[in-house]
Amino acid sequence: EKGGWSSFMAKEISEEPEAVANTILGRVVDGQVVLPELEGLDEMLAGIDRVIVIACGTASYSGLVGKYAIEKWARVPVEVELSHEFRYREPVLNERTLVVSISQSGETMDTLMAVKYAIANGARTLSICNTQGATIARESDAVVYTHAGPEVAVASTKAFVAQITALYLFGLHLSRVRGTLDPEVAAHQLAELQSIPAKIEQVLGNGAEITQLAKWMSDSRAVLFLGRHVGYPIALEGALKLKELAYIHAEGFAAGELKHGPIALIEPGQPVFVIVPSPRDPNSLHAKVVSNIQEIRARGARILAIAEEGDVAVLPFADEVIRIPLAAPLFEPLLTVIPLQLFAMELATAKGLDVDQPRNLAKSVTVE
Ligand code: BG6
Repeated sequence: EKGGWSSFMAKEISEEPEAVANTILGRVVDGQVVLPELEGLDEMLAGIDRVIVIACGTASYSGLVGKYAIEKWARVPVEVELSHEFRYREPVLNERTLVVSISQSGETMDTLMAVKYAIANGARTLSICNTQGATIARESDAVVYTHAGPEVAVASTKAFVAQITALYLFGLHLSRVRGTLDPEVAAHQLAELQSIPAKIEQVLGNGAEITQLAKWMSDSRAVLFLGRHVGYPIALEGALKLKELAYIHAEGFAAGELKHGPIALIEPGQPVFVIVPSPRDPNSLHAKVVSNIQEIRARGARILAIAEEGDVAVLPFADEVIRIPLAAPLFEPLLTVIPLQLFAMELATAKGLDVDQPRNLAKSVTVE
């Protein structure tokens, strides 16, 4: 079943271009998103005044990426909350609140209970799910399926990129219903999204480089991840992957937060992955992150930069540069996460660990 791959995880990472492409497939007509599963819901979607995304683990980080896109395009406030926290704090909900649950399995008990709570308290519900007919999908008012195919490895990879893709599609759909985005801009964004699978393929082509990096880092005791804007959730996901697979203490931080605390952790030799925003980013976050790199380099950090092709500003300060192809800034997470997934998998492999079945974890946690 692994089709010649050393693990399900390796196979599933190799399937990421298709996971994204298949999630888009059939949902773009004449430069517009078409989601037949949301037919009849236009009035509700135009009337909502808040979106709350609920999920656990990796799925929650896809929600955080989605927040940046949905707020930008559809101009509706989006919060992202862990299902188990949402459920027990009496959140304010009403018929103008859309609760979007994200779950690969569609069976995670924490998320299911949170969806039931949302329904009982009058919210509208949408499920983003990878498993046809799963419980969470059946409970929700509507479901947008991700088409990543079955994911066997416990640590999520291809389902994650498919979830982000579905959130982009939903965000564009919502912006059309709400009239918040110029159709030409929306069509342009969609074309950019459609170009992503081929770019993921390119990133996968640099896998050997990452295997080497993981080998020489296999005795690291702690690894830090920094990102900003949509790179921030990817820093969190990179850290989670390393904890899950290689049992290494890892933390992800928003790069802007560095000076408010985490910089105290930097000592000579500390490895830090930095997800560098595109130099083309209109918010000039690139310069800010490059200056973060200089600050931690001056304190002895070992910098592993994930940067766009042609970004030469990082070269003087980085120990290693992992290149990703040019993409529209909002879509970069679909590329920057790939080296981090590969890195965690290769480092776990170098330590002789089972990457498909990490200790103490289960693919789908059906207890609260
Ligand atoms: C965890 C899995 O138990 O559940 C993670 O190990 C996953 O990989 C999380 O992201 C949420 O699972 P699901 O099925 O709700 O997406």
